[in-house]
Amino acid sequence: MATASADSRADSTADSTAEQRQFDALLKADGRIEPRDWMPANYRKTLIRQMGQHAHSEIIGMQPEANWITRAPSLKRKAILMAKVQDEAGHGLYLYSATETLGITRDEMMDQLIAGTARYSSIFNYPTLSWADMGAIGWLVDGAAICNQVPLCRASYAPYARAMVRICKEESFHQRQGFEILLELMHGTDAQRKMAQDSVNRWYWPSLMMFGPPDGDSPNSAQSMAWNIKRFSNDELRERFVGMLVPQAEVLGITLPDPDLRWNEERGAWDIGEIDWAEFHEVLAGRGPCNAQRMQRRRDAHEDGRWVREAAAEYARKQAESAEVAA
Ligand SMILES: [Fe+2]
Ligand SMILES: [Fe+2]
Repeated sequence: MATASADSRADSTADSTAEQRQFDALLKADGRIEPRDWMPANYRKTLIRQMGQHAHSEIIGMQPEANWITRAPSLKRKAILMAKVQDEAGHGLYLYSATETLGITRDEMMDQLIAGTARYSSIFNYPTLSWADMGAIGWLVDGAAICNQVPLCRASYAPYARAMVRICKEESFHQRQGFEILLELMHGTDAQRKMAQDSVNRWYWPSLMMFGPPDGDSPNSAQSMAWNIKRFSNDELRERFVGMLVPQAEVLGITLPDPDLRWNEERGAWDIGEIDWAEFHEVLAGRGPCNAQRMQRRRDAHEDGRWVREAAAEYARKQAESAEVAA
């Protein structure tokens, strides 16, 4: 891997026009960019931001579900939930590694997360109040993640696309386990059915917000689409997601909490009610129900892990020292 400084020098060379043309031609042919290839500085910057944010979301996303590991209703459910939360840690690791190929270190990304200068997905700032939330998160949150991420398997930046292929396979397991939790609850007692419905009522709208603001309000989307990072607009993906949910909700016997949800014959798609974008912006601005708690837990975990990092660095130093003596 080239160093960050060498890469940024390459990005800004005066004679980059030929390289820019080559880059444009590669994108036009739907080719893939590898870490050692020349790329425009803004393309690199956009990817570092998007992939870093994605990695942070995976790591912070472990918190709402980890909250239920000790309270899962059976050994089987506990084992599944633990495996799922571990998968999310793995997704974070793939994505941090893939982002490092762009010339930023994992330490730098972690510092940005802890300082609050890097974002993570707003959805993880909502509380998990009942066991049914494990079902609703799997079905709706991982479901929305799949809709967002399947097209990213064809993203122009190859390390990102490769990471996504593996991540999507695991996400689809996550979605099914969530659906299955809800299905079981819906076949249970009245109280269980009520718990499942209540949970879907709370998670449905935030999951629709995961696709980002409406197309007219999403200034960076056009550039991301031109760079073949993003393949579909926010609204297209949101619509596709709702189209996937409607028949599944029918199987579950769950009502999607949108009185304006209607099949539009003309468009061949579902019309949905008004999304509360004021809520979205509040959570994004750090004023969601759990923002402060999630960040504090992340900072504490980082601080608690300090001795492990120091011990690992010291071990590596000693290994290098004895290798030097042996040589
Ligand atoms: Fe994930
Ligand atoms: Fe997941």
